[in-house]
Amino acid sequence: MRFGTIGTGNITRQWIAASALGNLELAAVYSRYQEKGEKFASEYGDVRVYTDLEAFLSDTQIEAVYIASPNHLHFDQARRALLHGKHVIVEKPFVPTLNECKTLMALALEKGCMLFEAVPNVFQPALRTIQENLPKLGKLCLVTCHLTQYSSRYDAFLKGEVPNVFNPRMAGGALMDLGVYEIHFMCALFGKPEKIQYHPNLAANGIDVSGILNLSYPSFQASLVVGKDCHSENFCLIEGDEGYLKVDGSVSLLPEIILNGKTILTSPLVNPLNEEAKAIGQCLEEKRVDWMKHWWEATWMVTEVLEEARRSGNLPF
Ligand SMILES: NC(=O)c1ccc[n+]([C@@H]2O[C@H](COP(=O)([O-])OP(=O)(O)OC[C@H]3O[C@@H](n4cnc5c(N)ncnc54)[C@H](OP(=O)(O)O)[C@@H]3O)[C@@H](O)[C@H]2O)c1
Repeated sequence: MRFGTIGTGNITRQWIAASALGNLELAAVYSRYQEKGEKFASEYGDVRVYTDLEAFLSDTQIEAVYIASPNHLHFDQARRALLHGKHVIVEKPFVPTLNECKTLMALALEKGCMLFEAVPNVFQPALRTIQENLPKLGKLCLVTCHLTQYSSRYDAFLKGEVPNVFNPRMAGGALMDLGVYEIHFMCALFGKPEKIQYHPNLAANGIDVSGILNLSYPSFQASLVVGKDCHSENFCLIEGDEGYLKVDGSVSLLPEIILNGKTILTSPLVNPLNEEAKAIGQCLEEKRVDWMKHWWEATWMVTEVLEEARRSGNLPF
């Protein structure tokens, strides 16, 4: 299936590199700038370049659109692509609000189009390994998750620039950028929490540069740390009264899974988007609406949690 891309950042390159695993073929690129689009497209051979979004979406050669633009644009770009009858793959975080999420899902059904959130960790085989081993931990007590990454754009932010990822008007911030991985991880394993409370460290423009998200489940508590202004070793610990399971490394990648001190799975160091591209490609090829709706449940839940978390932390969007 041929697809076009919106956004010319590194994540788009990573997606294109993984896309062949899902039998997906790059046919066109949209950029706001002709020269930038051409430079990007030249890395991939015979690929058309558009600077007009309507013209791009009207290209009948493109059957699917991959969107990797700043978060606040996801909704409108996905909506317009669906209105043109395209299948749509939206980078994480899907869209800022639950209303937007519902609108896109309803539109996709109306148009007979497939719609996905591209969030790599939920497609990793390691997630299933964790699910299978949870019963060995006994009664769950605590989950502690740590995901910090000093942003390559943070120094510019400190000097007074406002990179997209630190812009509240673009639905940026540590929770939206990194917290989304942790929340997907938690919702995949344990469902929606009963209580959600985000305690952010706010910069002067109101954006959360780091913070702690507390999630209460009926019988255990979870504490999720996110940070784009600091960094250390990342991990996640799931502790029960009969044992513990540790993700050694970021929950966005799930590189190593340890059960009671013993490594039970190490994932190969490959493009982290490979598994999601494979799964989404197969889903598109086989028109597996049932898979897509199953993944929608997660996206819906995570969007709801993100929205409640932002509200609880008084974030300005
Ligand atoms: N799955 C993952 O592991 C992963 C990793 C990184 C990012 N992401 C997600 O991918 C998306 C893009 O992230 P990013 O860091 O690449 O974002 P970004 O650098 O802020 O922007 C991405 C692209 O959008 C276009 N753009 C930038 N500013 C814009 C503006 N003000 N108005 C309209 N278009 C604009 C640019 O393309 P042109 O200049 O060519 O138009 C740019 O290449 C985000 O949703 C992010 O959460 C996912």
